[in-house]
Amino acid sequence: MKYFIDTANVGEVEEVASWGVLDGVTTNPSLVAKEGGDFKETVLKMCELVNEVSAQVTATESDEMIKQAEEYSGWHKNVVVKVPMTIEGLKTIKYCKEKGIRTNCTLVFSANQAVLAAKAGASMISPFIGRLDDVGQDGMGLIAEIMTIWDNYDFDTEVLVASTRHPRHIVEAAELGAHICTIPFKVFEKLPKHQLTDIGLRKFLDDWDKVK
Ligand code: E4P
Repeated sequence: MKYFIDTANVGEVEEVASWGVLDGVTTNPSLVAKEGGDFKETVLKMCELVNEVSAQVTATESDEMIKQAEEYSGWHKNVVVKVPMTIEGLKTIKYCKEKGIRTNCTLVFSANQAVLAAKAGASMISPFIGRLDDVGQDGMGLIAEIMTIWDNYDFDTEVLVASTRHPRHIVEAAELGAHICTIPFKVFEKLPKHQLTDIGLRKFLDDWDKVK
C-alpha cells in the first residue's frame, strides 16, 4: 500500500519523506488556504520530494477545469490533477485520460461515484471515509464495497483512502487491499509509536548503563 500525506505544508512532506516511507501528497484548496504561500511553488517543491502530488482544480465547468488541468500537469511530471466528482468533473477526467494527464477524482462518497470515475478514466479515486463517519455513515464499509467491485471487474484505477482520522483507519484500509492511504501529519506521527517500544527501549538503555 502506498502512503501519501494529506497536507499543503512542505515541511511536513520533507519530514515524512525523510523516514523513507512516503510515496505521494494530496493537497486540497482548504489545506492550501490554511498554509498560504504560492500554490505553484508549493506543488513544485513537493514534486521534488515525492512522485505523485495531487493539485486540485478550483473551476466547476469542464472547459475551465480542463484549462487548469493542462496548466497544472505542465508544471511537473509528478503532478496528478485532482478533480471533484461531478458530471463536469467526469468530462474533465475523460479529457485528461485521452491526453495522458493523470487524475485523482476527489469527494467520492458512494460506490456508484467510484465506478463512474473509474470508467471515465481516473487514475485514482478518493473516497472520504472520515467525513462519512462524521455524518453517521460507515466510511470503511464504503472502502470494502469498492474493493469488492474492483475485485470483480479489475479496474486500473487506484483506490486512495482519504479523510483518514486515526491509525486504525490505515490498518483497516490495508486489510481491505486499498492501494493508497492519504494520512494527515498528526496521524503519521502516531504510526511509529507504541508504549511497549518506549518501555522496551528505556529498559535496554538502563541495563546498558549498568554495564558501563
Ligand atoms: C483528500 O485528498 C482530502 O484532502 C482529505 O483527505 C480530506 O480530509 P478531511 O476530511 O480530514 O478534510
